[in-house]
Amino acid sequence: MKSNIIIQKDKNQIIKICRNHTEFKKELYIYRKKPKFVPKLLDHNGKNTVILEYIEGNPIIDLINPDFTKLALLFVELHSLESKKGKKICLKDSNPKNFIVSSKEQKYYMLDFSEWEYDYPESDLIHFLLFWASIYPFEKFQKIFNQFKNAYRTSLPINPIAWEIFLPEIISAFDGRRRKYNKSQNPLSKDVMANRELMAEI
Ligand SMILES: Nc1ncnc2c1ncn2[C@@H]1O[C@H](COP(=O)(O)OP(=O)(O)OP(=O)(O)O)[C@@H](O)[C@H]1O
Ligand SMILES: [Mg+2]
Repeated sequence: MKSNIIIQKDKNQIIKICRNHTEFKKELYIYRKKPKFVPKLLDHNGKNTVILEYIEGNPIIDLINPDFTKLALLFVELHSLESKKGKKICLKDSNPKNFIVSSKEQKYYMLDFSEWEYDYPESDLIHFLLFWASIYPFEKFQKIFNQFKNAYRTSLPINPIAWEIFLPEIISAFDGRRRKYNKSQNPLSKDVMANRELMAEI
């Protein structure tokens, strides 16, 4: 946990106390745009705390078959918010824990905008897919990879040159973080290398 989270189910809200003012400002910047794919911003204290609508649901990592078409559309919506010199608002921390599905309507939500940056959208897509390439067997990964990239491409382009340049860099940062936070103890899919090779075929 980077922040302090207080869940108040009775009030249907969640209090997020950010680590610092910068991360708070980043969260606020996104929530103030009122995108439809995020929980509603209920209040904030101007310093480090936001109060958000509580979404009763499950993190996508707990689902047997998350809907990767709907997940791609979350990225389309985020990347469509703003453009700056060819870069878009990117989540950066596209860890699966930052995506939840509501129990009520099976609506997909993106969370945690404390690290967003203007970047090339391909970087977000690669980072997100690397998590699944680490855990899914080849056949399952192949299916979701195709679903995800096709769904994204129905709305926004994926630049194959940017993809080719970023893929090795992001893999190396991803593996570095796994080593640093000792996640290398978690078993990787035996197909991780094959999955990553597949990712090169954009
Ligand atoms: N509005 C919400 N409704 C329901 N659950 C939420 C909501 N906001 C956050 N959560 C839950 O709290 C967890 C942590 O929230 P968030 O990612 O914003 O904080 P964080 O400190 O950045 O955590 P991490 O370091 O794990 O990414 C989420 O993974 C999610 O399970
Ligand atoms: Mg988070």
